[in-house]
Amino acid sequence: MNTLQKQIIELKKKHNVAILAHYYVEGEIKEIADYIGDSYYLSKLATTISEDIIVMCGVMFMGESVKILNPAKTVILPNTDADCPMAHMATVESVNEIRAKYDDVAVVCYINSTAELKAVSDVCVTSANAVKVVKALPNKYIYFIPDQNLGAYVSEMVPEKEFIFNQGFCPVHHNIFPKDIENARSEHPDALVLMHPECRPPIVAMADYVGSTSGIINYATESDADSFIICTEKGVIYDLEKKNPDKKFYPLKDDFICCNMKKITLENVYDSLISLENNINVPDEQRECSLKPLARMLELAK
Ligand code: 13P
Ligand code: SF4
Repeated sequence: MNTLQKQIIELKKKHNVAILAHYYVEGEIKEIADYIGDSYYLSKLATTISEDIIVMCGVMFMGESVKILNPAKTVILPNTDADCPMAHMATVESVNEIRAKYDDVAVVCYINSTAELKAVSDVCVTSANAVKVVKALPNKYIYFIPDQNLGAYVSEMVPEKEFIFNQGFCPVHHNIFPKDIENARSEHPDALVLMHPECRPPIVAMADYVGSTSGIINYATESDADSFIICTEKGVIYDLEKKNPDKKFYPLKDDFICCNMKKITLENVYDSLISLENNINVPDEQRECSLKPLARMLELAK
């Protein structure tokens, strides 16, 4: 452990802090985190944390979700510039238009969204539980926001529903092309291709396995295969190698990186524990409205 990590551990004890980290943040942050996981795990966990302060090492929607689910706690995002662009790629106006047009519609909101969008939605989903949650809804029509690619993947898995798509996308996963998969497969012909459903449908069709970050980790851990091409943010490779020291993991591309997640650094985690600033606040009314779809997700995904 380096000096900064040791200082963070001391500050954590002093202020009664729990540090949560998404798989996509740097390994040196995951080394000092109390909990590491995907969006579903972290949101479930958020309701159970007993420490006074929660430091969320991830992007803004993750900090907001923790605050919505556990409002009595101080929730700190070490760098409030760490934001997911896709979280803003739908509008309240479009939700109102779709509600006016379709009677039997559920607005299904990927957790990668602002609190404002969650507040006008019927249920939230993460990539780990979207299929299960959507299947459990009574509605015929599904308006899936903001991610068109996760929406398309879920619609394939739940053909009994009619989907209306929104045009949002993850700039990191959307930017993968058939040539990237072909190149990686020819370089590592024995490796299985494991992919996040935020990739575009023609790319998803080229994968051996499609799932959330925790799904990818579980699949690789349980698989008899010993090498894998990882088609999601490179940070996950740290966790894959830790769990599977005898297996080989190749990133699809060296620049498969979410620069927003990487805005969380050891330095700003330390600074935030000194200043105890960068607190996340969600206005009361918005919090009450956005808690409903998050709580419904946790219930339906059980
Ligand atoms: P998970 O739901 O797998 O944690 O993914 C979150 C995310 O931001 C993917 O880009
Ligand atoms: Fe958002 Fe994409 Fe980064 Fe995930 S990888 S946080 S969806 S920009």
